[in-house]
Amino acid sequence: MNQPVMGGVPTVNAPSYVKHQKLINWVAEVAALTKPERIHWCDGSQEEYDKLCALMVAAGTMKKLNPAKRPNSYLACSDPSDVARVEDRTFICSEKQEDAGPTNNWMAPAQMRATLHDLFDGCMRGRTLYVMPFSMGPLGSPIAHIGVELSDSPYVAVNMRIMTRMGKAVYEVLGSDGEFVPCVHSVGAPLAAGQQDVAWPCNATKYIVHYPETREIWSFGSGYGGNALLGKKCFALRIASTMGRAQGWLAEHMLILGVESPQGEKHYVAAAFPSACGKTNFAMLIPPKAFEGWKITTIGDDIAWIKPGADGRLYAINPEAGYFGVAPGTNQKTNFNCMATLADNTIFTNVAMTDDGDVWWEGLSKEAPAHLIDWQGKDWTPEIARETGRKAAHPNARFTVSATQNPVADAAWNDPAGVPISAFIFGGRRSTTIPLVTEARDWVEGVYMAATMGSETTAAAVGQMGVVRRDPFAMLPFVGYNMSDYFQHWLDMGEKIRAAGAKLPHIFCVNWFRTGADGKFVWPGFGDNMRVLKWMLDRIAGKAGGVEHVFGTSPRYGDLSWDGLEFSQQQFEDITSVDKSAWQAEFGLHRELFDKLAYHLPQALAETKQRLEGRLNA
Ligand code: GTP
Ligand code: SPV
Ligand code: MN
Repeated sequence: MNQPVMGGVPTVNAPSYVKHQKLINWVAEVAALTKPERIHWCDGSQEEYDKLCALMVAAGTMKKLNPAKRPNSYLACSDPSDVARVEDRTFICSEKQEDAGPTNNWMAPAQMRATLHDLFDGCMRGRTLYVMPFSMGPLGSPIAHIGVELSDSPYVAVNMRIMTRMGKAVYEVLGSDGEFVPCVHSVGAPLAAGQQDVAWPCNATKYIVHYPETREIWSFGSGYGGNALLGKKCFALRIASTMGRAQGWLAEHMLILGVESPQGEKHYVAAAFPSACGKTNFAMLIPPKAFEGWKITTIGDDIAWIKPGADGRLYAINPEAGYFGVAPGTNQKTNFNCMATLADNTIFTNVAMTDDGDVWWEGLSKEAPAHLIDWQGKDWTPEIARETGRKAAHPNARFTVSATQNPVADAAWNDPAGVPISAFIFGGRRSTTIPLVTEARDWVEGVYMAATMGSETTAAAVGQMGVVRRDPFAMLPFVGYNMSDYFQHWLDMGEKIRAAGAKLPHIFCVNWFRTGADGKFVWPGFGDNMRVLKWMLDRIAGKAGGVEHVFGTSPRYGDLSWDGLEFSQQQFEDITSVDKSAWQAEFGLHRELFDKLAYHLPQALAETKQRLEGRLNA
């Protein structure tokens, strides 16, 4: 719907089905500030999606892929400067700096509002402002929450339709006075009259801003992923984590999967791995042949909202409706189910295009095609790659696809009641030190494990790759408040479950990424991670053995099933050994973290550190 321009600002002209005056007034206010040429109220229909894609094809933002190879699918390539989350430009603007804590960038809300006011003034000139109402979680579910994103990016509009329940039906839930989280996004590239647009507008100045106290999100300058699809990291993690703290629930960077034994016994587990460390893959795992009869099903691949149920147990939902997943490394062998999911109706971003109009990325096939157009629109051949090291796809290239296309979507993935969680798994990308799997002795030691977790950085965020940093709970970039208070919230949740007389989920720590002398991963990973998952289930059932060490309990060689895999006892040693000097160094890093988080650091965690270190040095 295109409205006429009146006095430089379009009339808001909300559709008659929008009954929420506060929402309409807010749209008018943002339009008055940002001065778009038109306002488009998204209805979330397929027709609207198709039209926006066609518009982006005409503008050069997207290419339509060969419908014979990849029906209804598109390739978008971003500006080379806009390829990942920008953590150093991400702010938590609470009134008090200590409430954002030492792990977040902070600015006083009033100062940030003034800065953003200047940046947003006229920032949508010449563009369309899209109004996108969306629900995180099943529409109308008591655990779902609503947001409305205003954005001048049609790329954001089509991605939000896949990633969230976006469209007209949300207004029925909102009614005339329902609550919503206001999310304002601009690529920050106004167009002067007659100015030719670029394929991927963005701005070198970027701000990803959260006001946790008033629950607002303002994002400027980037059109990519978590910077721009504000329902995801900004709302479902940063803002939701503050809501969860206030209301007694958890918003976590976790996949949720169902695992069913051949006997029909079913468990759900939630696993937190940092960005690009294996959540999507684990959530769609196909067990090895020797595990015939075992079934893995997906509830979610990135975010979990977890609330205590009437029985005291924790129940989890996936607030998202689609997957925004890492393309490189994904293939028929590593993630068959994902490849099936991507067969059609997919938006690819920053992958390469084949000469017959399909997509390619590093790791998709052993042999690269003889010629490609790379993610930057340049000719690419294996020879060029060998000479220059240039990648065909950006390492953080991604796909956007609806969860409904996943052949192993769990029957309950859309269930508003959520699924009961039997175990939490935490894991990082560590080439050394951390064993394949360890079970925490109790809740507090599990929280300690998660709190002190380290991981090597990946391409999912702008910055140096491969450096070990502490990434508590895989939430370092995503906790919307003080990290020490977040630790306390986890301890409190454990107390609450115990007080309700319910069984606490077991806590495990995993590492698929230990390397050998040749620098290669020793553990085969992917489907073979089932062997580790099975050991965890057996631990929960009290059926599996293990050996206790400083940190908790790990399996002995004989405690895992090796059916159908050649993996020697020596290799097992290489990825499970606990090296004393490496662990002393590791505790040094824990100390650095705790020094940094000293304000409000739970006493129980400081004591746990003392106890574990004492054990190591005994
Ligand atoms: P975000 O979407 O950024 O939160 O990432 P994610 O945690 O969902 O990671 P994803 O499953 O997309 O995996 C990221 C990369 O790690 C891909 O290149 C995978 O192929 C690779 N990977 C996933 N699981 C394993 C594993 O078990 N072993 C090894 N060696 N690599 C893995
Ligand atoms: C991550 O970085 O953890 C992602 C991708 O899942 S993004 O949506 O860009 O945050
Ligand atoms: Mn993620």
